[in-house]
Amino acid sequence: MGKLLTVGVVLGGLLGLLSERFLTYRSRLLYDREPENKDLPNCRLIEGIEYGSEDLVILPNGLTFISSGLKSPILKSFAPDRPGEIFLLDLNEADPKPVVLKISDGFDVSSFNPHGVSAHIEETDNVVYVFVVNHPHGTSTVEIFKFEEENNYLLHLKTIKHELLPSIDDIVALGPESFYATVDYYFANFIMQYVEILLGLPWSSVVYYSPTDVKEVACGFYFTNGINISPARKYIYIADSLDHSIHIMGKDDNNSLTPVKVIPLETIPRSIDVDPVTGNLWVGCLPNCWKLFNYDPESPPGSEVILIQNILSDEPVVTQVYANNGSVLQGSSVAAVYEKKLIVGTGFHKALLCDLSEPEHDVA
Ligand SMILES: *[C@@H]1O[C@H](CO)[C@@H](O)[C@H](O)[C@H]1NC(C)=O
Ligand SMILES: *[C@@H]1O[C@H](CO)[C@@H](O)[C@H](O)[C@H]1NC(C)=O
Repeated sequence: MGKLLTVGVVLGGLLGLLSERFLTYRSRLLYDREPENKDLPNCRLIEGIEYGSEDLVILPNGLTFISSGLKSPILKSFAPDRPGEIFLLDLNEADPKPVVLKISDGFDVSSFNPHGVSAHIEETDNVVYVFVVNHPHGTSTVEIFKFEEENNYLLHLKTIKHELLPSIDDIVALGPESFYATVDYYFANFIMQYVEILLGLPWSSVVYYSPTDVKEVACGFYFTNGINISPARKYIYIADSLDHSIHIMGKDDNNSLTPVKVIPLETIPRSIDVDPVTGNLWVGCLPNCWKLFNYDPESPPGSEVILIQNILSDEPVVTQVYANNGSVLQGSSVAAVYEKKLIVGTGFHKALLCDLSEPEHDVA
């Protein structure tokens, strides 16, 4: 009897613990906060970007690559039959206009479904390598292109597919052929991904890839999303969207990662951009997850931009810079700055460009 009671108590405790964890997770998954609008004074939508600007990367010279037209079975698309595109935007221009980059023959543009983007500039010859996460026909690949500025051209060099990369979300380039990738789902199959996310299995990871060495370098996340690197290339920042946190990890010389700390947020972080001067993080966030998966044009998902300053200090400062209830910008996914310009992208909607140069609104 005593033994049975003990077993019962232990089992009950275990179940209680598990269900509490599950309920906490569920409340994060169904997270739905109606953001109060927080406007910035000098913003306008970028004409020509109408079907998403999921991720972007800004080169040190202000040239910006934007991935557009991401499609997935669970996401809204305003142009479901239109292939994805990479836009180029020059943030040095007073009124920058996006240009669609032409991709070299032989690359299947009809199934191009771009997601995370990153870039590597080779120091010896200044060649710009553009890395794009692609989901052709529901699979996951990393496409590496060489950028040719004189004719707005992406020369396709390589497609990378690997069993440790069943479902890729974002990447950060480390060299002409190496990168870290966030593996958001353990399963490649869409139905199994659904089960995985509903059960809250913390099976999301980060993988290091080079042609000679591929390895998992971090795991146990609920849903890894954006990933980026510090200006001195010593730290890696990883957004766990469903844990509502940013993980900071030290990058070892052998490319292993060592946990440093975790910054909890009151929102769903997506892409992370690092200010090259200050090292501050600009995070494109989603205030309401549920609205993203259950799109209602009358009540669309909102947008939110978070700035994290002094990220490596004992007391990082987290500031909400911009928020909108979806009336202007729906479902933000990325935010980044170049000099005094802030650009905010979305998964399937438009993109916003704000001038932060007015002194009273100087947030950086
Ligand atoms: C990588 O380097 C770190 C720090 O020097 C070390 O602790 C770790 O064991 C190394 N990992 C591998 C796989 O060699
Ligand atoms: C969103 O904000 C706008 C501007 O303040 C307001 O007019 C609109 O009613 C709000 N929409 C919702 C769904 O709350």
